[in-house]
Amino acid sequence: MPEPAAGRVLSGMRPTGHLHLGHHLCVLSQWQQLQRANECFFFVADWHALTTGGAADAPGQLTGQSLAMVTAWLAAGIDPDRSVIYVQSALREPAELALLLAMICPLPWAERVPTFRDYCTSKSRDEISVGFLGYPILQAADILMHSADHVPVGEDQLPHIEFARELARRFNELFGKDAGWQEQSDACAAKLSDQAAFDDCCRRYQQGGDEQARHQAIEMIAQAQLGGEQKQRLAGRIEGSGREILKPPAPLVAPVAKMPGLDGRKMSKSYGNDIGMLEPRSSFEPRLLKMPTDPARVRRTDPGDPKKCPVWPLHEIFSDAKTCSWVEDGCKSAAIGCRDCKAALADHVERHSAPLIERSEPWLAQPQRVAQIIEQGNARAKDSAAKTMTEVRQAVGLCSL
Ligand code: TRP
Ligand code: SF4
Repeated sequence: MPEPAAGRVLSGMRPTGHLHLGHHLCVLSQWQQLQRANECFFFVADWHALTTGGAADAPGQLTGQSLAMVTAWLAAGIDPDRSVIYVQSALREPAELALLLAMICPLPWAERVPTFRDYCTSKSRDEISVGFLGYPILQAADILMHSADHVPVGEDQLPHIEFARELARRFNELFGKDAGWQEQSDACAAKLSDQAAFDDCCRRYQQGGDEQARHQAIEMIAQAQLGGEQKQRLAGRIEGSGREILKPPAPLVAPVAKMPGLDGRKMSKSYGNDIGMLEPRSSFEPRLLKMPTDPARVRRTDPGDPKKCPVWPLHEIFSDAKTCSWVEDGCKSAAIGCRDCKAALADHVERHSAPLIERSEPWLAQPQRVAQIIEQGNARAKDSAAKTMTEVRQAVGLCSL
């Protein structure tokens, strides 16, 4: 995976209480790697779980599901000493910011979000909550609250990140232009070592959408010996706007896009075709052995084609090169049987999940330690959120008596 420029990374997951190998390979291993060079915030999006009736469907289960999910994160190598692990609902700030963002979000923006539109086609209006319409607004609040630079997400979430960018820009446009903002912006630019070069970058970006020029300008701000507010004014200047109070985030799409399940469809708990992240071999192997194969292999002696078999893509993910060529040759020549092939896959899946299971054991034995980690993360997240909210309240001009 190409390393993005170091910065602040934030991502969240709804507490489903059950993570599978797709979550591990497509999401958590990326999070784990990002920890090396970035300041990371990872959180349990439990409010988001309520937007589609989560609490009503499963009363009293959110806490347990959140704990189980964080336990799986820890098993996957999310390191509480490096990263802030927290629960969304332990903070009040995301709700407050979401409320304020909702005030400046035009209704059509929210209605246009693809996840909302798709949901509307499959549900009656009575089944759609106002909270669900606000889902991307709350997600924007999660992100903007911590001034995240990068948000690792799956493809399906890209419109949400774009939405967060647009809301941040709109907020800055409306509230970043305080009295005398233009003069202040000029004064800040004058403090740069090369104002002409900076303004040239801003012009190239604004007129031609030159992303490289934008990055150069951001770099110049990072290098400058200026205070936080002055830097915000210059960041806003790049956009041709006032102060950048909320920072527009960039998405980071996971390198492994999709994980096939035991029936060839995308791995998902709702399809019942998943292998749990912490599931022992004794539990997943019987289901793996029942997987459909290339329909041409009716008898053991019939040759097959791995490209027509849902077992093969899993080998490509979990098995080593030697096993993969053994499968390809053996399948096409009927030298191996499907049962041998699946047993080899089970070996490699087990090799993948055994260390995860092992690392989860101490946490499962002491759930109070997991709770403690979350509490510490909550406190760190609150500090970061409180800083943003002080600025936001001031900018909006809310009563500060
Ligand atoms: N919507 C995300 C999902 O369903 C979860 C989420 C909530 C999130 N807030 C976020 C992801 C902020 C990234 C950043 O997967
Ligand atoms: Fe599929 Fe393996 Fe059987 Fe070939 S040998 S059809 S790849 S299960």
